[in-house]
Amino acid sequence: MQSLTLNCCNILLLFLFFSLLVHLPPALGIDACQKFCGTISIDFPFGIDDGCGTPDYRNMLNCTAGSLFFQTDSGSYRVISIDYNKKTMVIFDPAASTCSSLQPRKAFTMSDIQYSLIPPSPETEFVLLNCSSDSPVLHRYSSLCTNFSGHSCSEIYGACGAYWMFRSNITGIPPCCATDYTTLRFMGLDIIGCSHYTTVYNADGLRGLSPLDWPFGIELTYAVPEGTCAECRRSGGTCGFDSQTDRLLCLCSPALNTTHDCGNLPGVGRGRKAKGRICLQTFALILTFSLLAML
Ligand SMILES: *[C@@H]1O[C@H](CO)[C@@H](O)[C@H](O)[C@H]1NC(C)=O
Ligand SMILES: *[C@@H]1O[C@H](CO)[C@@H](O)[C@H](O)[C@H]1NC(C)=O
Ligand SMILES: *[C@@H]1O[C@H](CO)[C@@H](O)[C@H](O)[C@H]1NC(C)=O
Ligand SMILES: *[C@@H]1O[C@H](CO)[C@@H](O)[C@H](O)[C@H]1NC(C)=O
Ligand SMILES: *[C@@H]1O[C@H](CO)[C@@H](O)[C@H](O)[C@H]1NC(C)=O
Repeated sequence: MQSLTLNCCNILLLFLFFSLLVHLPPALGIDACQKFCGTISIDFPFGIDDGCGTPDYRNMLNCTAGSLFFQTDSGSYRVISIDYNKKTMVIFDPAASTCSSLQPRKAFTMSDIQYSLIPPSPETEFVLLNCSSDSPVLHRYSSLCTNFSGHSCSEIYGACGAYWMFRSNITGIPPCCATDYTTLRFMGLDIIGCSHYTTVYNADGLRGLSPLDWPFGIELTYAVPEGTCAECRRSGGTCGFDSQTDRLLCLCSPALNTTHDCGNLPGVGRGRKAKGRICLQTFALILTFSLLAML
């Protein structure tokens, strides 16, 4: 009696094992493209390895020692997060000040291509600090400075330990201006006449929040052309491109790239997966029945 229950258990376990085997996800496209950098997942339209993602973002991302970096004309910026649903990427600008550190000035700049593909979001404020009293953003272009959720220069200088120098200015508290990236891009810090700046994202959520708790960083927004990668992905492939011609590719397996998807080719993608699954299921069933018959 006891040995019979044991056998039943064994068979159950065997069956479970085979069911698991049959339901393992397919390992397609995995070899060609790195899916993670540290904890940040890398997905379409981005890619780290050449030929992955879209050619638009080629050489913009780099994974160094488990940290993801976004390269622009002005430097390498650490990627804090990527939200594939909102289509945003938050990066940290090491040359911008935060509440706890006053950084030497070095303006964030993007190439024209980057500016059109993945510009800073409207919710990202560039807060120009210690502006000279004849700064154009205080006079002719004062309309470029926003209300900044009601935060004032003296509040910012006062709350942040790193800005004590600005507080101690004998001629009075130097002006500041919260504006968007476009102002900085087209004027530059020299013309604007502000010695430092800081960047804060989620500007809509800053009302009543102390500068000590602000989310410092730059939020970038990107668009993905509708349906570009959907077919390939649905068929189990990974979207990429030919690194010589920039032609879009669907990476189906280490041995095969197609121009569209992996599904409509015999022996690849959906077709092969389905066949493999049926084969394994039949095998598991036959094995279970033979074991049962042996009892
Ligand atoms: C498929 O494309 C990727 C990315 O361009 C490339 O690395 C890989 O060598 C290609 N594989 C084949 C079999 O052509
Ligand atoms: C990758 O980013 C690191 C970190 O800033 C940088 O030092 C390095 O030059 C970058 N590598 C490439 C190939 O762009
Ligand atoms: C503030 O800006 C002035 C020029 O307008 C500059 O001389 C001064 O050094 C700046 N303050 C700090 C702390 O950098
Ligand atoms: C700007 O902020 C101040 C302080 O919170 C507020 O009283 C004022 O109504 C705001 N102005 C606009 C145009 O939002
Ligand atoms: C003090 O602030 C004024 C503007 O109010 C600015 O022109 C001047 O450069 C500042 N001085 C220093 C030493 O930061």
